[in-house]
Amino acid sequence: MDSLLPVVGSDLLVPLVSGGSARYVNLDYAASAPCLAAVADALATALPWYSSVHRGAGFASAVTTAAYAEARETVRAFVGARPDDTLVFTRNTTDALNLLAACLPGDTTVISFASEHHANLLPWQRGRHVCLPVPRSVEEALSQVEAALAAVTTAHALVAVTGASNVTGELWPVAELARIAHRHGARIAVDAAQLAPHRAIDLATLGVDYLAFSGHKLYAPFGGGVLVGRADWLDAAEPWLAGGGAVRHVTVEHTEWALGAARHEGGTPNVLGAVTLAAACKALSAIGFETVEAHERALVERLLAGLRALPGVRVLSLFGADSPRIGVVAFVVDGWDHGRLAAALSAEHGIGVRDGAFCAHPLVEALLSPATTGRTGAVRASLGVGSSAGDVDRLVGALATLLRNGSRARYEVDAGRVVPASDPRPLPAFVGRPARRPADVCQSLV
Ligand code: ALA
Repeated sequence: MDSLLPVVGSDLLVPLVSGGSARYVNLDYAASAPCLAAVADALATALPWYSSVHRGAGFASAVTTAAYAEARETVRAFVGARPDDTLVFTRNTTDALNLLAACLPGDTTVISFASEHHANLLPWQRGRHVCLPVPRSVEEALSQVEAALAAVTTAHALVAVTGASNVTGELWPVAELARIAHRHGARIAVDAAQLAPHRAIDLATLGVDYLAFSGHKLYAPFGGGVLVGRADWLDAAEPWLAGGGAVRHVTVEHTEWALGAARHEGGTPNVLGAVTLAAACKALSAIGFETVEAHERALVERLLAGLRALPGVRVLSLFGADSPRIGVVAFVVDGWDHGRLAAALSAEHGIGVRDGAFCAHPLVEALLSPATTGRTGAVRASLGVGSSAGDVDRLVGALATLLRNGSRARYEVDAGRVVPASDPRPLPAFVGRPARRPADVCQSLV
């Protein structure tokens, strides 16, 4: 099975620690997906026209302003926004959820799970927050939320939940949670960072009040993100950034703030981030999410079958091995440290995965029980529309070789990451060589 859509970098060659090179197998889509070729084309088309947005008298400014407005409409359609929803372009999902947290009415209780990515956990900790324990079944998740909502004493409540886990890839029962939230007069916000690139989303049908996601996981890595949802809380809140563009009228003593998206898009917005994000939405919609889903399901089944056939591999799961998931699979291997395995996949086989605790520490702790197992992280393979059966087979084959023969290179820990000792692999010339290796984030639980 070939890739479904062309992505930039699919023929990249990367150096191996043994000398020589290999075609890079990118199985790290859940962290940052490669740029769709259609998105790169859209960027190249828009770039010559790039000029001041909402501010210029020139024709290029008018084109840029129109392109930004059109991008907003495209993304609204992509998520099935209701006519009265506001769509704010943000930097990424973290920015979007922090914005929403800042917009909550003062008397709001937020209910979320300990299994959330930090982006959908830490912003809520600043206010009244009920953090439910990591559920081990969909039914348990639903009943926990039901009970927590029944106990709320504040005027407002918000359930904040992921659409698909960035660790296990498992889908969360968003529509059911929305029904429960609404039955209790609460609202629901969905962290769709992982969901949006892999499943069709319709806010109105799902009954979701707020949705946040990132361009860089949606094949448009140019700094765009989205918060979309009910206008009232967003319009009543303080502007996210006080500055030009977010105002209607300013005197020395007083500012009259804008309503709608402009209120929270102070300063010059990231027009090309929005335009490229919209281009990705168009490309995915054009091919259709049924096709996207079928492609990814076949690859995930191939990957899971390959992993099951290997000795000592355990795939992480909250809701059971057969629960539906996007193209994200995290696993641990007996006798292997996660960092060393990921390093060997890269250095000896040219395969890129992510390892560690995935910015979801409480979830990874619940899945790995580090106090008893000594495990502080896992390896995660994640895929998407640019992935092929050949990519999956390369990973499974490399794992089989490593498990059978061990790693050939020597490894050491540098800046918290396992890397080949005296790494001989040159960086491409455009990068230069930093004096020190930058530290990684969320590399392990301790
Ligand atoms: N949230 C991203 C991940 O899970 C960065 O890798």
